[in-house]
Amino acid sequence: MSKSISESLLNTMREWVELHLGHRISQSRLEDFEKRVLLAAAEAGFENPSDFIASLIRGGENNEAIGYMALYLTIGETYFFRDAMSYSVLKANILPEVLNRKKPGERLSIWSAGCSSGEEPYSIAMTAMTVLSDYRGENGPVEARILATDINKQSLKVARSGIYRRWSFRDIPAFIKEKYFTIREDETYALKDEVKSKVDFAMLNLAEDGYPSLLNGTDNLDIIFCRNVLIYFSPEQVTNTLLKFHKCLRPGGWLFLAPSEIPHPAPKFFHVQNLNGAIVMQKVEEADLKEKAPIKIVHSNYSYFGSSREEMRLSIDNLIEAPPSMPQSIETELELELELDFENLPAKLTEYYDQGRYSTIIDALPQISTSMEDSDSSETLGLIARSFANLGNLEAAIDWCDRLIAQDTINARWYYLKATIHHEMGDDDAALRSLTQSIFLDESYVIAYFVLGNLHRQRGEKDKSGKCFSHVARLLQERTGTDIVQDSDGLTVGQLKSIVTSLGGES
Ligand SMILES: C[S@@+](CC[C@H](N)C(=O)[O-])C[C@H]1O[C@@H](n2cnc3c(N)ncnc32)[C@H](O)[C@@H]1O
Repeated sequence: MSKSISESLLNTMREWVELHLGHRISQSRLEDFEKRVLLAAAEAGFENPSDFIASLIRGGENNEAIGYMALYLTIGETYFFRDAMSYSVLKANILPEVLNRKKPGERLSIWSAGCSSGEEPYSIAMTAMTVLSDYRGENGPVEARILATDINKQSLKVARSGIYRRWSFRDIPAFIKEKYFTIREDETYALKDEVKSKVDFAMLNLAEDGYPSLLNGTDNLDIIFCRNVLIYFSPEQVTNTLLKFHKCLRPGGWLFLAPSEIPHPAPKFFHVQNLNGAIVMQKVEEADLKEKAPIKIVHSNYSYFGSSREEMRLSIDNLIEAPPSMPQSIETELELELELDFENLPAKLTEYYDQGRYSTIIDALPQISTSMEDSDSSETLGLIARSFANLGNLEAAIDWCDRLIAQDTINARWYYLKATIHHEMGDDDAALRSLTQSIFLDESYVIAYFVLGNLHRQRGEKDKSGKCFSHVARLLQERTGTDIVQDSDGLTVGQLKSIVTSLGGES
């Protein structure tokens, strides 16, 4: 693309995006941002990008061009039952608790804000249907209504169609597909009407003031899911959005964010809780705000964070097929005495990490979120991602990597970390992409080249693996044998030299 945008116009556009879409564009993403603006301008039919920008600025909020910018700025990555533990907690703890408080005739109201192509609200619908099908509370059966909104109209179109490709299911068991979907000739899956009919889709820009409102159904809600959306927002926009969510919820209502999105500091008007490993936030009433609600850590009977992939699989299986739990007390809370030294958080967390105390790090997440400083947050986020990975919660680990990358876009180490997690999940195509990004950012990052070589070798791509190993050998040539290779968990230069030599790497 030969066109370009002047620096001052690009900065104007950046401010506009932050104001109208809520997204903060960091300095390091400017080049990528420029490309996206150019693509949006072309899509909106403008020959000259300056005219597109002028029309956006003149048009204020109700401009159709906002939709075009949203198409090119937003990332719609999503899949069914993403972060399965949240759905387990929704089913076992939150829904029974909410249903218990329902008065006769009251509906269950849930909002999926930033729903992308619909996998999230439909997963919520399937979970709610499982619980409600057998629910016979004092007040009789309860109906569920799920509102799902997004700013991206193309995603909403896919969501309304209810037709999905295999990729949307990733790691979920086959029986969920069999129960709720019909397979089509072109090997796509069509969601059955019984689930589709539970969800209403609408366009809504979270950066605007259109909520809470009776008119669009965003008032008096029991539960809000807003996951993997706030990660793109500026801190001011996150605070604004959380304040508005607070107003949208009924007293005692619940907010689900992605594991990596609990803001720091955590807002006083929500009570951050760790329920069986899923971090959820419960609305605190204004009257109770005078005294800051204590942060509570709830422990499950088994440790999800410490669970193996097999246990994680069981928790997904349990979502749909198991009989619904009756209201379970969420009073079994245990206040943890955490010995965190907030003065020097990264150093303390590194110490815990080196001692293998990954669960301690994760259990302290609410406190960490409250006290994390911007200056030390990349290291801290990296430790949290690695702790989740070491404990087998790979989805949460990926979420934290994405948050890291959003904040520190040009650091090769975070792409490498993400690649290792993808590999652990068995998704080697994604691992290859992340490794390529990593070495693109830092050609001298030895460990990324080494792992890339190994991946190529496992795929039988001898030429490619040979090139990687030779590059590693060259990078190590001048280095002392006893040096530790960065991010290698203690491998020395000498050890790595002999490994790559045995694998055919020539220097
Ligand atoms: C990564 S997807 C998350 C989808 C789903 N919630 C999940 O966790 O799997 C982020 C979604 O947020 C939407 N989004 C971004 N900015 C938004 C805004 N200002 N208002 C509404 N939706 C927005 C994007 O269009 C995208 O579909």
